[in-house]
Amino acid sequence: MFELPRPKIGLSGRLMALTIAFILLSSVMIYVPSIAYFRLQYLNNKIAGAQIASLAVEAAQDNTLPVYLEAELLINADVLAVALRRDSVRFLMLAGDLPATIDAHFDLRHTGPLDAITDAFTTLLAGGKRHIRAMNAPVHGGGDIIDIVMREEPLYRAMIDYSWNVAGLALLISLITSGLLYFRLHFLMVRPIRKLTASMVGFREHPEDTRHEITPSGRRDEIGVAEHELAGMQIEVRQSLRQKARLAQLGTAVSKINHDLRNILANVQMASDRLLAVDDPNVRRLTPMLIGSVGRAIDLCTDTLSYGGAREQAPRRLRFELAPLLDEIGAAICNAPDARLIWKNNTPRDLEIDADPDHIFRMVQNLGRNAAQAMKGEGVIRLEARRNGPLVTIDVSDEGPGLSAMAQDRLFEPFAGSTSEGGTGLGLSIARDLARAHGGELRLLRNTSSGAAFRIEIPDNNVMPFEKPVQLAKGKT
Ligand SMILES: Nc1ncnc2c1ncn2[C@@H]1O[C@H](COP(=O)(O)OP(=O)(O)OP(=O)(O)O)[C@@H](O)[C@H]1O
Ligand SMILES: [Mg+2]
Repeated sequence: MFELPRPKIGLSGRLMALTIAFILLSSVMIYVPSIAYFRLQYLNNKIAGAQIASLAVEAAQDNTLPVYLEAELLINADVLAVALRRDSVRFLMLAGDLPATIDAHFDLRHTGPLDAITDAFTTLLAGGKRHIRAMNAPVHGGGDIIDIVMREEPLYRAMIDYSWNVAGLALLISLITSGLLYFRLHFLMVRPIRKLTASMVGFREHPEDTRHEITPSGRRDEIGVAEHELAGMQIEVRQSLRQKARLAQLGTAVSKINHDLRNILANVQMASDRLLAVDDPNVRRLTPMLIGSVGRAIDLCTDTLSYGGAREQAPRRLRFELAPLLDEIGAAICNAPDARLIWKNNTPRDLEIDADPDHIFRMVQNLGRNAAQAMKGEGVIRLEARRNGPLVTIDVSDEGPGLSAMAQDRLFEPFAGSTSEGGTGLGLSIARDLARAHGGELRLLRNTSSGAAFRIEIPDNNVMPFEKPVQLAKGKT
């Protein structure tokens, strides 16, 4: 199987990174309210502990305790002072070394969720350096408010420990979850997709090699459908490629047969020319028809051969005067006995072109014949040639009805655009191939109901600036 270049971060790697990121994000969203709740719980526990310590004071005679006992109670409750308010009177129950200032006051009876979150983060930011006062209603009655003063440091440390625990847990959960997801997805999606891709790439490079054909795994999901469709497409494409190859071979065989057929027809033409000398009136009547048919058959063979590329030669370029060659083509086209065609060649006599004269003859002849056919043998065919720097253009226009929609749609398509009876639909296609072989082009310049015009463009082929133009021998094309 074809080896695919491995992407730097594969699909499964991305999925793993995304899973870790999402689990960490959701952990942060859970962490924010939970750290606030943790802090409230911590303070309430401290208040409850301080209340228990204050009970010892209430139980003592005169509500006074020995100093050492009072200090011990404060250490156990981890607070600096405890006060109790009962019936709007505030009693200081226990008091140790109180700080000169208290940095923050928190009344837990009126702390909403948003306040709790803000207070938690200010505690974290303060770094445990503050002294704070917290108050709440006693848990089991026994007064209106319990009020404690404490150092914030133990609370800060507990909150930091809690944060690390949450972070560690979140990381562990995300690693385990994303690991599981990674392996599951790797087998479920990534591997099958890689297999599909490798099959596509391998098939594109060597469509004939059946080893690149994918075998559907029979899955019922989207990947199963993709495998099934790809397998079907590979079979169809391979079949049509085989068919094309066979058609190409057939085309070569037809070209060869055509070639020999044309030689045979040339012999028939020679023989039928001689028939013209026979006196028999029947022979004299039929011979021109015979000669015409054989001529057309030879033309058809020649055109088909040219199109198949079996005989087409690269242009043999010369620099020559164009006007006389165009006159010659006009004579060949307009000399039919019953034609009332006028060949108007407006080409400047001194215009030179750098091209294969034989090819120019065939291009213009094709366009001229089409024009003559379109005008049904009557009208003016105009030729305008001009030079524009290194480019020579030859425009052939007529006064016919213009190209039909069908001919225009399939213009230059071999065998497809013909609407004329007995036409093969190769003329324009061959003419364009010849123009392109010169590095030029053949275009439809104008198409109206009062005539069509085609333009041949032939660029010079690095002509020597002062090369003498060649005088073509008459009749040689
Ligand atoms: N000057 C024109 N005026 C109107 N229609 C034209 C003109 N030139 C070409 N066409 C249309 O384009 C079609 C294709 O022309 P093309 O020369 O390629 O083939 P063809 O003339 O039908 O056959 P052949 O291969 O014998 O030349 C023609 O059948 C005709 O319908
Ligand atoms: Mg034609």
